[in-house]
Amino acid sequence: MEQHPPYPSGLILTGRRVLVVGGGHVAQRRVPQLIAAGADVVLVSPEVTPAVEGLATAGEIAWHRRGFEDADLDGAWYVIAATDDAAVNEAVTDGAEHRRVFCVRADDATRASAWTPAVGRHAGVTVAVLGNREPRRSAAVRDEILEGLREGTIVARHQRDRSPGVVLVGGGPGDPELISVAGRKALMEADVVVADRLAPRELLGELPADVELIDVAKLPRGRAAQQEEINRVLVERARAGQRVVRFKGGDSFVFGRGFEEVEACRAAGVPVTVVPGLTSPITVPALAGIPVTHRGVAHDFTVISGHVPPGHPDSLTDWDAVARLHGTLLLMMAVDNAPAIADALLAGGREPGTPVAVVCDGSMPGERTVLSTLGALAADLTREAVRPPAIIVVGDVVAVARPEHYPDRRG
Ligand SMILES: C[S@@+](CC[C@H](N)C(=O)[O-])C[C@H]1O[C@@H](n2cnc3c(N)ncnc32)[C@H](O)[C@@H]1O
Repeated sequence: MEQHPPYPSGLILTGRRVLVVGGGHVAQRRVPQLIAAGADVVLVSPEVTPAVEGLATAGEIAWHRRGFEDADLDGAWYVIAATDDAAVNEAVTDGAEHRRVFCVRADDATRASAWTPAVGRHAGVTVAVLGNREPRRSAAVRDEILEGLREGTIVARHQRDRSPGVVLVGGGPGDPELISVAGRKALMEADVVVADRLAPRELLGELPADVELIDVAKLPRGRAAQQEEINRVLVERARAGQRVVRFKGGDSFVFGRGFEEVEACRAAGVPVTVVPGLTSPITVPALAGIPVTHRGVAHDFTVISGHVPPGHPDSLTDWDAVARLHGTLLLMMAVDNAPAIADALLAGGREPGTPVAVVCDGSMPGERTVLSTLGALAADLTREAVRPPAIIVVGDVVAVARPEHYPDRRG
């Protein structure tokens, strides 16, 4: 018989009897999908895998513990022949053909009247791929499509969430791979993206052509004025009916001024939601192979902004109290003030030999780690010409990660 391509169709199986003959790994893969479709699954097999047995014990399927009998096909709307015995599969397909019931055959698709596509679901959409009897190819194509849908690189633009409002998206430390799936999706659904200097730039290049990009670095200078202007733009655009993504590096609520934007939106009655991001004080050391906690070494960690030096009237940090902590210190925005911070920690009782790692440009092409100690930090930063952005990790977790550099420390 001439081989035509299959005719795809979505079967509504709710409450309809589906016969599965065989209880091995093929059945184990297919039966949960049938259950999810609401089918009344009857499985016939002398033996089954423990997973299939579990479904029977839980009452999710009916299992007849015996060989196939032709009468099993009575009343079935759909059949899967999945035994490892070709003669049994043949008997099942023959019986199904006789009754005009569509039948999948696991061992020989050419003898079947139906094929099972590679299936996946995302946000209410079912993706089913039939790859001309090449299951690996079908699965690979399905995975590509699902990944595109999840990451937002495949967007049915007319179906996207167009409700006006502001979404604060944390973009992670810089590598475009390190944004969340929800963050990527929000970017793809935006009408306008208001992006910070530290937001992952590469992702902006992937935005659909009709998305407007507002670069915050180009707004009027001065921190307060700039923030007011950002708040104004967010509110104005959302009120004009646009979906606005406020896109930042790391997480919006970790030294990101994100909550000021939430407050501005709320005050203006503009809907605002938050997509968290991987924050740099934890992520950047991790990328450099440095844990922020380690059993028996550091049972707490403290994230501190170093943008105001110790002793400055604007400083809200009690550096004496910080010096007395035993856990890991993670200093952000601290490159310029690192010598003064190291002095404050030493004055508070920390040992000069305390290990320090300065991880610069985490997850970006120029990423590097400068290893030092509290006593030598100022000189090492100058010699290595360290520039922001950097995370400064203080504590014995650095020695745990790089024991060869700190032979005298506990690692
Ligand atoms: C204004 S704060 C923003 C932090 C961001 N909201 C977060 O959650 O990571 C900027 C500081 O974050 C740190 N930082 C952010 N991204 C970094 C990266 N890729 N590598 C090293 N440090 C980074 C640096 O300490 C930098 O000075």
